Amino acid sequence: MSRVVAENISPARDSIPFYDRRQTMEMSPACASTSPTLGHLLKCVGDVRKEVTGDETPVHQVLEMNEGIVEPRAFPFVLSFNNLTYSVKIRRKMTFPTLFRRNNRLGTAATSAESLAGEDVFTRTKVLLNDISGEARDGEILAVLGASGSGKSTLIDALANRIAKGSLKGTVTLNGEPLESRLLKVISAYVMQDDLLFPMLTVEETLMFAAEFRLPRTLSKSKKKMRVQALIDQLGLRNAAKTVIGDEGHRGVSGGERRRVSIGIDIIHDPIILFLDEPTSGLDSTSAFMVVKVLQRIAQSGSIVIMSVHQPSYRIIGLLDRLIFLSRGQTVYSGSPANLPLFFSDFGHPIPENENRTEFALDLIRELEGSPGGTKSLVEFNKSWQDLKRSRARDNDPNQSPSSTHNLSLKEAISASISRGKLVSGTANDSSPSSMVPTFANPLWIEMAVLSERSFKNSLRMPEIFGIRLAAVLVTGFILATIFWQLDNSPKGIQERLGFFAFAMSTTFYTCADALPVFLQERYIFMRETAHNAYRRSSYVLSKSLVVLPSLVFLSLAFAALTFWAVGLDGGISGFFFYFAVIFASFWAGSSFVTFLSGVVPHVMLGYTIVVAILAYFLLFCGFFINRNRIPPYWIWFHYISLVKYPYEAVLQNEFEEPTKCFVRGVQIFDNTPFGAVPTPLKVQLLSSISNTLGMNITATTCVTTGRDILQQQGITDLSKWNCLLVTAAWGFFFRALFYFTLLLGSKNKRR
Ligand SMILES: Nc1ncnc2c1ncn2[C@@H]1O[C@H](COP(=O)(O)OP(=O)(O)OP(=O)(O)O)[C@@H](O)[C@H]1O
Ligand SMILES: [Mg+2]
Repeated sequence: MSRVVAENISPARDSIPFYDRRQTMEMSPACASTSPTLGHLLKCVGDVRKEVTGDETPVHQVLEMNEGIVEPRAFPFVLSFNNLTYSVKIRRKMTFPTLFRRNNRLGTAATSAESLAGEDVFTRTKVLLNDISGEARDGEILAVLGASGSGKSTLIDALANRIAKGSLKGTVTLNGEPLESRLLKVISAYVMQDDLLFPMLTVEETLMFAAEFRLPRTLSKSKKKMRVQALIDQLGLRNAAKTVIGDEGHRGVSGGERRRVSIGIDIIHDPIILFLDEPTSGLDSTSAFMVVKVLQRIAQSGSIVIMSVHQPSYRIIGLLDRLIFLSRGQTVYSGSPANLPLFFSDFGHPIPENENRTEFALDLIRELEGSPGGTKSLVEFNKSWQDLKRSRARDNDPNQSPSSTHNLSLKEAISASISRGKLVSGTANDSSPSSMVPTFANPLWIEMAVLSERSFKNSLRMPEIFGIRLAAVLVTGFILATIFWQLDNSPKGIQERLGFFAFAMSTTFYTCADALPVFLQERYIFMRETAHNAYRRSSYVLSKSLVVLPSLVFLSLAFAALTFWAVGLDGGISGFFFYFAVIFASFWAGSSFVTFLSGVVPHVMLGYTIVVAILAYFLLFCGFFINRNRIPPYWIWFHYISLVKYPYEAVLQNEFEEPTKCFVRGVQIFDNTPFGAVPTPLKVQLLSSISNTLGMNITATTCVTTGRDILQQQGITDLSKWNCLLVTAAWGFFFRALFYFTLLLGSKNKRR
């Protein structure tokens, strides 16, 4: 994955990704040193802008590099979309009358046509996008406007390839070439409507992690830092750089700042196409203006910006280059904001003076939607108006044909754009556009390291979560240690030991349930990040698995140390280490199981219900409540999949494996029976008469039951203790693998 820039580009520029030769023209003499560093360049570029314009608003570096220089753009990008149509099937509720009608019809005359008509009763097609065409160019902002529910988000999804191929009709091309999904993923970014960020990281850290994921490994850490600093300035986040993002519980940055951080994450690698769904919603007019201003700068640095927007203010309209007005999935206007007055006066509804054009347009559309004919007249008028405009343009400039607007192939345009500092994700010298940009910026192990670091950082800032878990384990350990204090080797002691082990092993699983909300909360962050290949899903699973290990070791050690000697378990120091290993393996298996569930269930509460229920069944079938040979054959499979069975059998074998140790001697055989209350001399007499009857010599001290016998009685015969330990750990790996597959299947991120 070497970074390449076509051969004709000098090596110095290769090593400076944001460098542009034109920028030296603008620099002050102090800045125009012969071999400037990246940071130097960035700083100087910012200074120049301030000197020249006195403008203090944040600036985009690449933009700065071309300002003031009128030079035709050599690498135009044109994203065209033609006849986009998308519809969904809506199931109607089955009501008794419809059911009845259907049965009736099918029952009487079963012609195929009629049965088809019968199906229509249950599904209806709803057209969300209806034959939408248009075009967006680099350097411009294309804004999609319309009332709520008009299809803005759907159109953005369609363009951003977030609708499954089969469902979307029509074509989307970039510079005349169809857009491959893989290529679009790397050259574009999609900013969702919600801000999904780690609450406990600061703005700077959040952007730095994004830089680690999205920028190539060939870029040094200091350059990544510079890119982040440049971005912070560009987004106007300087004052909030060291503030944590925050969430409902922790006060953090403001809503507008959070919005800009979300945008920052997605533009860190300087994408060629940027999609944004309502980037200004929920912001006050100044913040909204600021966000669009930032977007304008990004566009002018050579990107295509496509966004949806609700009721833009007058100032914002001034920043937009093209508008598409939608009404119920149909285009009612498409063109520049400047043409709006002409369009509406031609339509017979001139925009009154001093009225906000878009507000007027949206109001008029809403009015038409409510009228009997709907917006049909406006849709038709728009079509004819567009045709007229096109033919007028052709008359004025007969040489202009639609294809002449871009004279570079997609591959050339992308490579030219990359060499100019766009798409800072490293390139490989290859022939097809999709292989020119690597799918992932970093190798697996770097992704894992960065993910683990982020996870650690986030959890270190929320120590209460680990604290509560540790407290739960310690309290359970303490209660168990005190109520099972120094168990003896008597028949009662055996029962108590069995109870202790069953409870202790299932506790380790129950305390893992706290892993459930972790992924459920992170899921949408994960989906956003993987949707644009910030990292591999496998790195996420691996780093998640690695990150839990230290805390599991600590918890297991605490629990094992607290209970082993207090309860008086057998085996000395080696016995202790085995006991610790089994507890650790159970924690591992439990946390893997819960993590897997969190990939499957949609809600925390549902997750807890399922975890508690399944763990209760695991405990029921582990062999403590009912021996294996007493479980009905049709339930025996549950015994083998019970996660509690394996650690439970492992610790029992660890406890009772000593062949010389005796648990029931002579008179103790009457314990736990109605003869238990009989005085000891009488028990001795009973024992001797039993001995006579059986022809054996059983005295008051003869060993009747050893540890091995107990294991036999408990049905613990199939696996050795080491195998039980291995199987427990293997379950952990198995569920991690399943988790990976749920992520692969479950986070497609596309509409059907
Ligand atoms: N899967 C679906 N099934 C049925 N209707 C759907 C589905 N997805 C979207 N819609 C409908 O499609 C229409 C367009 O939705 P979309 O989210 O694109 O609207 P929008 O213009 O973005 O609205 P807003 O401004 O409120 O975000 C809405 O009426 C919505 O109810
Ligand atoms: Mg929307």
